[in-house]
Amino acid sequence: MIKLAIFASGNGTNAQRISEYFATSDTVKVDCIIYNRKDAYVAERAKRLNIPAHYFTRDDFYTNGRVLEYLKEHEIDWVILAGFLWLVPEEILKAFPNRIINIHPALLPKYGGKGMYGEHVHEAVIANHEKESGITIHIVDHQYDKGTTLFQAKCQLTDKDTPDTLAAKIHELEQTYFPVVIEKTVTNEAR
Ligand code: GAR
Repeated sequence: MIKLAIFASGNGTNAQRISEYFATSDTVKVDCIIYNRKDAYVAERAKRLNIPAHYFTRDDFYTNGRVLEYLKEHEIDWVILAGFLWLVPEEILKAFPNRIINIHPALLPKYGGKGMYGEHVHEAVIANHEKESGITIHIVDHQYDKGTTLFQAKCQLTDKDTPDTLAAKIHELEQTYFPVVIEKTVTNEAR
């Protein structure tokens, strides 16, 4: 079994979709969901999905090594960032070389970098009257939103679109493609 740990911070719609997608898989398993905001709704979703969820602090992530220890204890093969906003520290990058995948709600390299997340991205795209936006799924490195792109999908925008309607379009792309791209990426390597 290829074991995934999902890192999330907020609502957790992607974490839920990925967990449901792999629930019946013989090759890939969501082992746990790890979150860094105490009141994150993803914890509630994890409970309902029957997937162990663990809250951790900034210190656990950056200083005392508890997150890395947990991932090792659980023999995690791949880390999936699904709405997770902290820069991944060197020790975790080293332990999972090219084995951390992130989803970003825009067509990188546009609208990436620190502070560009969730609705901030959609607001900026609409403010610039872009004709299209989309999602980027990429390998994580030591910079925000800079690692090798695995996949992009686009959606078209009209003058009538708002940050909310754009968010809905992006959400649909994420729900459709993220689990499939994860599956392809993590199983290719195992062959
Ligand atoms: C998703 O749209 C994801 O692309 C975005 O946060 C949202 C999380 O939603 N990620 C970023 O902006 C990363 N820079 P979710 O918690 O419902 O999955």
